[in-house]
Amino acid sequence: MNKHTTLGEYIIENQKFFKYSSGELSRLINSIRLAAKVVNHEVNKAGLVDILGAAGNTNIQGEAQQKLDVYANDIFMQTMTNRQIVCGVASEEEDDFISIKSGDGGYDNKYVVLIDPLDGSSNVDVNVSVGTIFSVYRRITPVGTPVQLEDFLQKGTEQVAAGYIVYGTSTMLVFTTGHGVNGFTLNPAIGTFYLSHPSMKFPEDGNIYSINEGNYIHFPQGVKDYLKYCQEEVGNRPYTARYIGSLVSDFHRNMIKGGIYIYPTSSKAPKGKLRLLYECNPMAFLAEQANGYASDGYKRIMEIKPTELHQRVPFFCGSKNMVNDAKRFMAKYPEDADY
Ligand code: AHG
Ligand code: MN
Ligand code: MN
Repeated sequence: MNKHTTLGEYIIENQKFFKYSSGELSRLINSIRLAAKVVNHEVNKAGLVDILGAAGNTNIQGEAQQKLDVYANDIFMQTMTNRQIVCGVASEEEDDFISIKSGDGGYDNKYVVLIDPLDGSSNVDVNVSVGTIFSVYRRITPVGTPVQLEDFLQKGTEQVAAGYIVYGTSTMLVFTTGHGVNGFTLNPAIGTFYLSHPSMKFPEDGNIYSINEGNYIHFPQGVKDYLKYCQEEVGNRPYTARYIGSLVSDFHRNMIKGGIYIYPTSSKAPKGKLRLLYECNPMAFLAEQANGYASDGYKRIMEIKPTELHQRVPFFCGSKNMVNDAKRFMAKYPEDADY
């Protein structure tokens, strides 16, 4: 495995490391790769939409131009449905999960996927990186029957794969199947992903903190105290502040450079903003697989038992020592004061 290894080669050569090692999970990663390329193509011309759409807001096939998050959702949903490799999908953009039949018309597939098709969508109009996040579980209801809500409401510890695509200065697909985290960069000229970042790891310590500090006044006292700590002049502090406003991009930078991302509860958003199933669990799985950690400020994210599809949780994620420092500040105040 080296920088010339393509994602296709990587999948074939590492089949044995995919949990339960059926070809199904490999085919699923392959479809995500395909959908990522289609969405990437559309994201890259986002700035042209107004210009191309000037002829009446229709594209070359005569279809009306869509908002990019709706478009990304449609592409990922269609890819999963048409290729019949999963038994169900839930998306941040849909009210309910959908059940998908297998090729023979039954319900014989084993995996469910949860997806945030376009993360950081407010950044699209201003030419700033956005992403896609996905999370994969093995169903718990019997194969051969339609999927049920309980197949999606599993703890993060049960994930068999998770990852994200970052549509940045270059486009990358970063994922884990529980054996570390690998990053693949798209060569847009030939449409192939290459293993550019093998075995990605968060540095144990970092000096970046990422939080929407404009909400400071509404934060719990533990977060306010931690932020003051980040800004003190002691040792390698004050830390530097970096906040893109798209979780995927903030996480990606912090994993490479060392840092912490925080989206806490606030008096405006009493359970935080991020969604446990589409955003926090997959990022938590990636973080732990990359030597980092993810918490809700008190407990491990991946051990929270979900109760609803669109559930929100506070999120503290990144370099291990930084998340542990933040938890120490949170622990001084009782947990239920914030919920
Ligand atoms: P989405 O675009 O999928 O709704 O997610 C946006 C999320 C996350 O990516 C980002 O870090 C956060 O919302 C930004 O929220 P604020 O604007 O409140 O800081
Ligand atoms: Mn999101
Ligand atoms: Mn989204």
